[in-house]
Amino acid sequence: MPIDIRLTAIPAPAGGPLAAHLAAVTDGADDEDIAVAVQGAETAGLDPYLGGPTADVLAACGATGKAGDVTPVAMRAGDKSRRLLLLGLGDESAADMRKAGAALGRRAEPERGMLAAAALGQPAESVRAFAEGLLLGSYRFSLASGAAREAGPSKVRILVPADDEEATAAVSAARAVAGAVGLARDLANMPSSRKTPAWLAGEAVRVAAAAGLAVRVRQPGELAAEGFGGILAVGAGSVQPPCLIELGYHPPGARTHVVLAGKGITFDSGGLSLKPNDGMKGMKTDMAGGAAVIAAMSALAELGATVRVTGLIAAAENMPSGSAMRPGDVITHFGGRTTEVLNTDAEGRLVLADALAYADTVLEPDVVVDLATLTGAARVALGGVLGALYASDDALAAALLAAGRQSGEPLWRMPLVDEYGDALDSPVADLANVPHSSRPRAGSIEAALFLREFTGGRPWAHLDIAGAARFSDGDQGKGATGFGTRLLLRWLGGFSSA
Ligand code: BES
Ligand code: MN
Ligand code: ZN
Repeated sequence: MPIDIRLTAIPAPAGGPLAAHLAAVTDGADDEDIAVAVQGAETAGLDPYLGGPTADVLAACGATGKAGDVTPVAMRAGDKSRRLLLLGLGDESAADMRKAGAALGRRAEPERGMLAAAALGQPAESVRAFAEGLLLGSYRFSLASGAAREAGPSKVRILVPADDEEATAAVSAARAVAGAVGLARDLANMPSSRKTPAWLAGEAVRVAAAAGLAVRVRQPGELAAEGFGGILAVGAGSVQPPCLIELGYHPPGARTHVVLAGKGITFDSGGLSLKPNDGMKGMKTDMAGGAAVIAAMSALAELGATVRVTGLIAAAENMPSGSAMRPGDVITHFGGRTTEVLNTDAEGRLVLADALAYADTVLEPDVVVDLATLTGAARVALGGVLGALYASDDALAAALLAAGRQSGEPLWRMPLVDEYGDALDSPVADLANVPHSSRPRAGSIEAALFLREFTGGRPWAHLDIAGAARFSDGDQGKGATGFGTRLLLRWLGGFSSA
């Protein structure tokens, strides 16, 4: 989980905010590092604390100012030495502020304090990016919980001017968003031995209680009675029963109803179309789309979202066994459409088809967005930085692209190439889950075209986050990224009420 962060507002002082504050903390806790920005450091009144001209110290220590560059120097405050972290903010764009904050976050130590003065005087959007970066950079996954966690929180105080309400609100928003991302990462990082569909549902119920959401979990009996054949077929090989998790956020005055559908495969072995071991190693995160849905919904009330949101998480474990679905089986989805299963490893589209059909015909929303670690092909095409966006509606695509850009979770729009649709023709069912022919093909596009069949022509977007759901570069962190959570919250924060 992200570190414990404490907000501190400083009084607007006479002699420049930073220097005046440093004077005030001279006799404060001395186990607290102080982080200041390289940009503007020369004019911040630091000279007396550094024992010489700040410009000389910056040059001598090689503080470059590059975003995320951290140069520790000793600082003399009263009769004590303190650690001063000279932090580069790059071009001070939101992206660079996020990077700079993350660099500080990675340095945050348990039971040690940090006073982050590096975003002082920046616009609220930059403060928000900085604070988000700081919290997310501090994320560490731990299987221990509660008292078993060996280390206490580190206390990070972000300085904002006392009269700057926007900056204060920006830090609060960052805390809510980072808390949600931390939840998404925790869920996705949990090993599948514990993370069964039932466990995931339990977490959703816990989150719903804390966040004031409605929640309903459909067990296999109800799934069968209502015809959720895709979820049941994918879960059939596992001793862990599948389920459909439905979360509801319904604020008064909401004018728009959004459905978020997340792929919730708690482990993807490939089923009888078994993956090789290398392909299986990361598959505990194959519910990252569902995790982003749960996480985003957990923060809607705290962020004051005015849009109605229903979250659907189609949860199942994809395993090979004597009761598993077989290549060649024909399954019937919610609503009656049939699919010929030619490859049991293309399971995400099978569970999502049920969720999308249910959303279309029962929930009747204005907009549907699904998130899924759907295809290795999306990762090959875009790598780990960008999520693949498919959309049936240009305005929706534009809104999601903007939310992605602003939140630091960029998307790249991919085409829904109608000509590729016949790849999914089947002689025995409405659709095949993969093409009959094994010619080289556009795997991510075909998966999106398959899903589109179940959206009933509603404005719909599909985010294939197979690459972005996990850190590809050890530098930024390890494991799950929580991708999707921030952009969803950004987008959902932009709706107006009646
Ligand atoms: N969960 C995988 C996709 C995936 C691959 C996510 C790598 C993250 C990293 C999905 O269920 C899958 O197995 N897709 C197949 C589809 C194929 C059989 C058409 C794939 O991408 O190989
Ligand atoms: Mn698969
Ligand atoms: Zn999968």
